Amino acid sequence: MKILLTGAAGQLGTELLPLLSKWGRVLATDRMLPSSDPSNWLKLDISDGDALENELNRFNPDLIVNTAAYTAVDQAETEPQTAFLVNAELPDRLATWAKTNNSRLIHYSTDYIFNGEGNKPYLESDQPGPLSIYGESKLEGERCITRSACVHATLRTSWVYSSHGKNFVLTMLALARKGLSLKIVDDQKGCPTWAKNLALASDQVIKCWQESGVDDRQGVFHYCDDRTVSWYGFAREIFRQAVSAGLLDTEPELTPVPSIEFPQQAKRPHWSVLDTRKIRNQFGISPVSFMQSIQDVVTEIKSRELQ
Ligand SMILES: NC(=O)c1ccc[n+]([C@@H]2O[C@H](COP(=O)([O-])OP(=O)(O)OC[C@H]3O[C@@H](n4cnc5c(N)ncnc54)[C@H](OP(=O)(O)O)[C@@H]3O)[C@@H](O)[C@H]2O)c1
Repeated sequence: MKILLTGAAGQLGTELLPLLSKWGRVLATDRMLPSSDPSNWLKLDISDGDALENELNRFNPDLIVNTAAYTAVDQAETEPQTAFLVNAELPDRLATWAKTNNSRLIHYSTDYIFNGEGNKPYLESDQPGPLSIYGESKLEGERCITRSACVHATLRTSWVYSSHGKNFVLTMLALARKGLSLKIVDDQKGCPTWAKNLALASDQVIKCWQESGVDDRQGVFHYCDDRTVSWYGFAREIFRQAVSAGLLDTEPELTPVPSIEFPQQAKRPHWSVLDTRKIRNQFGISPVSFMQSIQDVVTEIKSRELQ
């Protein structure tokens, strides 16, 4: 199998690359090459549609895994054109190419396509209602892929973190090390998801498709880890594990605050919980433990710092 991976240097792309390599030849692409071992990588800004199309025609992938995205949620409010280009037009191009060339597409979307007014986990079939440009652009990307009728799995996920890149875990650890006391939003609830677990879920989708065909196992699926917490609850668990692993000497002083005390450019949903039954029923993928994942990611961060 030939696999084209976009966003390979991002949180999810980094976790996916070693897993995808088991399935065949991977062309890893991003707009910046990694400093270490960039030999099998291609520098590709996917907002250049012609360059993207040329690479697709040249490499002719059997599977496209699109993790590249415009993920700066607040910045998207002032850069809607770029957000829509990367999050909607490009998935559209990838899907159209996949349909024409009999390829398959795995793509990622977000809980931020919902308005967060619910109080039970969102099903794939629930009515979307994005509150932000980011959410709107990701929803449009999903819709383009569905319209293309290519063979695809769009995995919606939430609150992604890892031991690298820009994310809440690393931000919290950096702030704690400055000795700051922290105010953390306590009225937005969601399911933090370790990028590695989402990569493993994607790997399982490929395994099922390879072993028993696609059948009707395609469309939109929800995957997130197993615990619903607020950002405040998430932060508390990060600090608890960081102290226990010796990454921090003490837990910082934390104060739970409502979102209104922490104004941001983009509105966020208050309730961002995804129901994961469909992916479990169709692909046998169960949500991984949040507590174990935080422990593992903290261990990874510690071993990286010791290197
Ligand atoms: N992060 C979250 O909390 C979250 C939550 C829900 C859903 N998701 C979705 O999950 C997927 C993976 O997210 P992630 O956290 O792994 O994102 P990420 O860490 O921001 O990685 C995205 C990668 O895409 C690259 N990229 C952006 N624009 C590009 C362009 N024009 N050409 C080529 N590469 C480009 C980025 O490069 P730069 O670093 O240079 O921009 C980055 O390496 C995305 O679809 C995202 O929408 C993420």
